[in-house]
Amino acid sequence: LGRIVQKRIVRKLELEALLSRVEQHPAPRSDLEQYTIPVNVAGKMLYVAAYVGGDIEDKSVLDLGCGTGRLALGAAYLGAASVVGVDVDKVSIEVAAENSRRVGLEGKVSWVVADVAAVCGRFDTVLQNPPFGVQRAGADRRFLEKALKVGTVVYSLHKRPKAGSKLLERLRYDQSEFETVAPSPFLRRFVEDRGRKILGVYAVLMSVPRMFDFHSERKHEFVADLYVIGG
Ligand SMILES: C[S@@+](CC[C@H](N)C(=O)[O-])C[C@H]1O[C@@H](n2cnc3c(N)ncnc32)[C@H](O)[C@@H]1O
Repeated sequence: LGRIVQKRIVRKLELEALLSRVEQHPAPRSDLEQYTIPVNVAGKMLYVAAYVGGDIEDKSVLDLGCGTGRLALGAAYLGAASVVGVDVDKVSIEVAAENSRRVGLEGKVSWVVADVAAVCGRFDTVLQNPPFGVQRAGADRRFLEKALKVGTVVYSLHKRPKAGSKLLERLRYDQSEFETVAPSPFLRRFVEDRGRKILGVYAVLMSVPRMFDFHSERKHEFVADLYVIGG
């Protein structure tokens, strides 16, 4: 068992090294909420999906709103059978394709320029860090709706409307930790109305560099909840 744990720790460090080489969008658009998932959050999300859920290795994986490809490339690195990355923005997809060459995973991800509404098919696992709907109300709901339609298991990040100061403090203390929290009543209903079940919700601190005018500080910090949905 010790050896397996050691191997996984090394794999997580290697994964984070790879994710940090995935370039961000050169000119992110605020209307599409194009910020890149921080390396520590992507690493942990992929780690949970791969080693807690067993939902990456030999699975078909969809990264919805893939941006420049961190989650998709991480899934390919961890042994997914196939990976598709979809984004409405052509520049994101061009950078994602360059990124796959940069990290030695060329040809391992199918990159597609498409709106989330156009996605169809069936995937074992959907990973998504969707627009949170800060700019366009309901944007994350469109993503969740689609993910639940096409994915057997869904790992989806959603902005927490209000984070208590104690939770923030704990997450700041160890920024790569995820803390188990209760689902929002709205999202729980949303998921259950579609015949699905929330398997777990984990809060995580997101710290992204200031990129848009509506970010007032140098670093924009907020709490996101990772929803794991199956059923
Ligand atoms: C918060 S960013 C996340 C990017 C990437 N998944 C990551 O975590 O680094 C949201 C992404 O969703 C994409 N997006 C926004 N609206 C979309 C839509 N209607 N259909 C497909 N992709 C969309 C944006 O272009 C952006 O790349």
